[in-house]
Amino acid sequence: MFHLGWFLGDGFGIHAWSPVNGDGPWIGSNATDWMKPDIYVDMATSLERAGFDYILIEDTSMVEDSYKQSAETSLRRGFMAPKNDPMPLVPLMTSATRHIGVIPTVSTIQYPPYLAARAFTTLDHLTEGRVGMNVVTSVTDRVAQNFGYERHLDHDERYDMAMEWIDVVKQLQGSWEEGAVIADPYTGVYADHTKVHPIEFVGKYFKCRGPLNTVPGPQISTPVCSAGSSPAGRALAAKYDDTQIAIVRDAAAAKKYREDMRARVAANGRDPDDVKFLFIATPTIAATDEEAQEKHAAYLASRASDEAIEYNLWNMSYTSGGRIDFGNIDPDTKIRDIDLSKQNGEYTSIKELFEGHEDESLREVVAKSHQVKDMGLIGSPSTVAAKMGEIMEEAGGDGFLFYLPTTRYNLALVSDGLAPELRRRGLIREEYTGSTLKENLTAF
Ligand SMILES: Cc1cc2nc3c(=O)[nH]c(=O)nc-3n(C[C@H](O)[C@H](O)[C@H](O)COP(=O)(O)O)c2cc1C
Repeated sequence: MFHLGWFLGDGFGIHAWSPVNGDGPWIGSNATDWMKPDIYVDMATSLERAGFDYILIEDTSMVEDSYKQSAETSLRRGFMAPKNDPMPLVPLMTSATRHIGVIPTVSTIQYPPYLAARAFTTLDHLTEGRVGMNVVTSVTDRVAQNFGYERHLDHDERYDMAMEWIDVVKQLQGSWEEGAVIADPYTGVYADHTKVHPIEFVGKYFKCRGPLNTVPGPQISTPVCSAGSSPAGRALAAKYDDTQIAIVRDAAAAKKYREDMRARVAANGRDPDDVKFLFIATPTIAATDEEAQEKHAAYLASRASDEAIEYNLWNMSYTSGGRIDFGNIDPDTKIRDIDLSKQNGEYTSIKELFEGHEDESLREVVAKSHQVKDMGLIGSPSTVAAKMGEIMEEAGGDGFLFYLPTTRYNLALVSDGLAPELRRRGLIREEYTGSTLKENLTAF
């Protein structure tokens, strides 16, 4: 069996609202209702029906303006903005469900560790153990500037800071020993103060006394997710993650990635089976294989449209950390002639995009390439389910993170078309066996 996650890739933001970055005629009322509760509740209940482990909520806190040095494209097309804070979605989605986990993104430059430890412990109580945290370092200067920085820290230093941040959060969440809470209404004793300890943390980036002013939640320490695959990103994941998400091209790359990561996890004295690696997948599902192939062909053709190219160039500018304006580079420039040394954002995403394409032009690469991979998952529910099984067989585990436009149509294709086929083959859970996100992640 393998695990499944859903990437709410535009965060608590505007979803699939135009024919180009959306899903054709299936947009529904996303353009006007993205900030309302219904789609998120529908999503959580649908994905729980399908046995998903978790929903991962992306977040970025800024209006992007590195492309053509202006916010015009971002705002005209609704790219990454508007966006609401992801945290309030957690109680909303978990109160409509009983099993599925919810993992909001938290940036280590936005939340001081004390605030994060307190918020996530509170959410752990409110969700009865179903919250996780996607720890990110934020990608661009614009986010950093909203939180008091002149420019963002350099890529690797951000990870050093994030590791220290997680240490503080974990220490705070461990600052109440087991047995500290007595809660005896007869004696009137609530807690044993000898079991509640200040952490007295003094590091390079953070200083925090502790203890946390709330009691441990069902999971005690919030499960950690991360998404960086550079050496620094892998080091963080190997030390702290309960689940990591990664972009790979195919099953062979997934196997290589997973083997590398499991060795790193073991080198940290941890059990590799305690970390679940979910590979990003964008399946194309339709009633029949022919229909799915047609749908995929139409999608590929649409990648060459002016709107799609604008989106990709805009997205690459963001992905570079806002340090390279791809709107200012002649699209006929060869990849090898583009100076990527200034990038300070998502190293792996840029590498995946360009590596092996050095002799092609920027236009060619963006027209036929997109950041997220389909992993060959094109076909009827039955075909896609079988292929997913084959990929996992080759990779060795642990699962997929679906990244599709969030429409009720796609949710139905996955939850009511694909999931029953996966279940019929014994590839995904029949039912949830754990009561917390951590237990469900480690159930198999
Ligand atoms: C699938 C995926 C999702 C991500 N989600 C977020 C996010 O929600 N917010 C954010 O600031 N960064 C996000 N990132 C960026 C990563 O956290 C990380 O900073 C970036 O990928 C750099 O990784 P690297 O180690 O490969 O350079 C995401 C990256 C990937 C690949």
